[in-house]
Amino acid sequence: MKRIVFIAIAALAVVVAATAGRFYLTGMHGDGSGGRAKVTIGGPFQLIDHTGKAVTDADFRGKYTLIYFGYTYCPDVCPTSLSIMADALDMLDADDLDKLVPIFISVDPDRDTPAALADFVPHFHDKMIGMTGTHEQVKAAARAFKSYYAKVNEDDPDGNYLMDHSSITYLMGPDGLYAAHFSHGTPPETMAKRLADIL
Ligand code: NI
Repeated sequence: MKRIVFIAIAALAVVVAATAGRFYLTGMHGDGSGGRAKVTIGGPFQLIDHTGKAVTDADFRGKYTLIYFGYTYCPDVCPTSLSIMADALDMLDADDLDKLVPIFISVDPDRDTPAALADFVPHFHDKMIGMTGTHEQVKAAARAFKSYYAKVNEDDPDGNYLMDHSSITYLMGPDGLYAAHFSHGTPPETMAKRLADIL
């Protein structure tokens, strides 16, 4: 008898945890499907692309965008994330790939000039667009995406420094609204499958 009660309580705990988990995700994703806690990811940005051209979020209406915030001096996290993104893109069929623009937004505008980005992004994917801007522009873009970044070891005598930064890849829809996100370390196969489902 005791054992049955225990099983019943365990089953109830699973249901409660699953419900709580779903509520949490709904809130986090802010997917507009009636989620109770609305979190808006994304918004207007004004930046400079790796060719030196001024760009805004409105330039990408009609296309999905896959957006990642990072910096070219990043020793490991950014190269890993961008390689995963590139591998996932290579797994898409041509029609799906055509609907999507991969974007790398620098959070280190002092070093990441358009020229530096022009050297960097083609190593990952020929469709990838690098973006930078003034400190204010970059800050506004990151804020819109709830993306965190901060300079660390600023007082290095040689002027070297690292940037702490979030490592989330955002998929934005053709309307410029949030569609999905991928956490750091998502395998390219998983990302590709999810993209193919959505595109
Ligand atoms: Ni990085």
